[in-house]
Amino acid sequence: MFYKRNFLKSILPLIFLLLGFQSFAEPSIDEGKALFKANCNQCHNKDMKSDLTGPALGGVEERWADYDQADLYKWIRQSQKMIDEGHPKALELWDAWQPTIMNNFANLTDDQIAGILLYVDGVYKGTYGPKPADNVVGGGGTEEKGNDLPFYLMILGILAILALILARVVANLNHMADTNDGTATGHRKTLIEQLLSPGVIGFALFALILIGGYITVNNAMDLGRQKGYAPEQPIKFSHKTHAGDQKIDCQYCHDGARRSKHSVIPSTNTCMNCHSAVKEGSKYGTAELSKIHASAGWNPNTGKYFADDVSDETIEKEFKKWIGDRYKAAKGEDVKEKRVKAEVNAQWKAIAGFVNQPIEWEKIHNVPDHVYFNHAQHVSVGKVECQTCHGKVEEMEVVEQFSPLSMGWCVNCHRETKVQFADNPYYDSYEAYHNEMKKGTRSEVTVEEIGGLECQKCHY
Ligand code: HEC
Ligand code: HEC
Ligand code: HEC
Ligand code: HEC
Ligand code: HEC
Ligand code: HEC
Repeated sequence: MFYKRNFLKSILPLIFLLLGFQSFAEPSIDEGKALFKANCNQCHNKDMKSDLTGPALGGVEERWADYDQADLYKWIRQSQKMIDEGHPKALELWDAWQPTIMNNFANLTDDQIAGILLYVDGVYKGTYGPKPADNVVGGGGTEEKGNDLPFYLMILGILAILALILARVVANLNHMADTNDGTATGHRKTLIEQLLSPGVIGFALFALILIGGYITVNNAMDLGRQKGYAPEQPIKFSHKTHAGDQKIDCQYCHDGARRSKHSVIPSTNTCMNCHSAVKEGSKYGTAELSKIHASAGWNPNTGKYFADDVSDETIEKEFKKWIGDRYKAAKGEDVKEKRVKAEVNAQWKAIAGFVNQPIEWEKIHNVPDHVYFNHAQHVSVGKVECQTCHGKVEEMEVVEQFSPLSMGWCVNCHRETKVQFADNPYYDSYEAYHNEMKKGTRSEVTVEEIGGLECQKCHY
């Protein structure tokens, strides 16, 4: 018994050390990305390479290398103060950029700033997220997920060896003590006996449960939740072009959002409203827009839909003619016939699968089947902006999932958000609240207070 107690005593601090490892703060590149998006990207270009309202941030640490790291951190917290104090680098920046003033970010911790700088550097050097070429306008993209499991396994391994050595030492000490007391049995525990002792087995079980739990929780949390998810789509459709530059209203295409549970992805017909006129694009020529025409069964040469009994050969011939003609027009008539043929075949290969088929867009957002989410409730009744939940879609070349779509995300918003109570007939039935507001004893009603935290509202 004495031995076992000692063993546990010696192992306990190690267990606490192990548990403590999780909570050591470390600069995180993912947190840096989130912070950059929330605080910096309205002024600093997210490609890190070109100037915007403020200078491109790529390579900034090298530019500040002549000074203490603390100076750069201080700049980010209180740039104006540093300019006032006459710091040479600060004055140089001010000379170049005045009168634009950068905000103060006095609340950022060292780790958070380090995280932002890691992210800046990662995007600049192309080691983080999508390749720089996609990143120039798209941003986001697939995030690499740090896997620190090997690290934890290594720590565990080291701890296990330490524990074994300690156990050996303790056993020897016990044996010596017993010998001194004259109570020694003459039998000293062998390594095998020690390995099979309750203490060691207990520790091994404990470690297994810890690792198993860690893996399970980590994977479970990611199921169906993919913040930042931005799959490649069958057509290079850009929200920046359509909702941003062309200023097309979100609900022109997603007209379900206002009146139904689902926002609905527009059908090919909606695209054809414009792309029967805009037949060729400035970016991809015929390559992308012909996919829409093929899907609609529409002949871009004649501007008419193909007849029902048209043969596959005719469709192929018509599209190849269209692509070839437009390619020659773009390159000049003296372009080599071989080159045209190669282009035509390559484009047709990509388009053929779309003929008379609906476009199969990859779904990005998904809440699990047991959750009830209704767009109309939020957009029409709650008057929540699309951007609150989906981010600045009108700036995204490729849509990416902006919110975590976790239960905590829904519930937090319901706790904090006031419902637009006044002048909204949907809420007429809440007489008590209306009376309190009239009397002045209540100034606001949150979603929580109309039942927005009740399990069955969100769960089937
Ligand atoms: C309101 C616009 C604005 C915002 C927001 C902003 N900055 Fe700036 N930033 C500037 C401007 C403008 C400059 C150039 C110096 C000046 O005029 O103050 C600058 C300069 C810098 C520099 C020095 C660059 C160099 O080449 O040495 C760093 C670093 C920097 N900003 C980091 C950040 C970080 C990190 C954030 C977010 C936490 C941020 N900035 C948010 C406008 C902004
Ligand atoms: C010209 C039509 C059009 C307009 C305008 C438009 N969208 Fe879209 N939207 C699409 C198409 C097509 C898709 C599917 C392809 C994709 O994901 O890029 C889509 C996808 C989305 C998705 C992802 C859906 C998923 O799979 O989870 C969101 C979110 C979205 N749009 C929001 C918006 C918002 C917000 C606006 C307004 C700022 C807007 N859209 C404007 C056509 C449009
Ligand atoms: C309200 C009009 C309108 C609607 C509806 C519309 N578009 Fe567009 N689209 C445009 C305009 C304008 C451009 C810019 C053309 C250019 O840059 O040459 C464009 C450009 C594009 C491009 C880039 C072409 C290129 O080569 O640069 C693609 C791809 C595209 N649209 C796909 C779609 C799809 C898919 C839909 C349906 C979901 C759709 N569009 C609906 C007006 C529209
Ligand atoms: C309160 C948050 C919230 C608001 C506001 C919101 N959405 Fe969504 N959106 C979601 C969630 C959550 C999903 C996933 C729904 C699902 O899986 O059933 C989603 C999914 C989508 C989809 C994929 C198709 C679908 O319906 O599942 C599109 C497109 C979309 N939203 C567009 C919009 C547009 C356009 C607006 C504004 C008119 C908007 N959303 C407003 C949270 C929101
Ligand atoms: C940006 C804030 C916001 C987010 C995020 C949000 N909601 Fe809501 N939600 C609201 C508002 C505002 C209302 C009030 C509209 C109303 O009265 O129905 C509401 C109402 C609801 C209701 C009706 C409640 C009732 O008592 O009638 C349901 C159900 C609901 N939300 C589900 C969800 C689910 C599920 C999610 C997450 C996938 C979610 N919401 C995320 C703001 C939000
Ligand atoms: C405002 C909407 C909302 C309310 C209210 C709500 N949930 Fe959820 N719940 C969700 C969403 C969204 C998910 C899916 C989370 C995900 O996919 O990660 C979820 C997931 C779950 C899960 C599955 C475990 C998980 O995290 O995926 C359980 C269990 C659950 N909820 C129980 C409850 C209970 C019990 C209540 C009442 C106390 C409740 N929920 C109230 C939105 C809600």
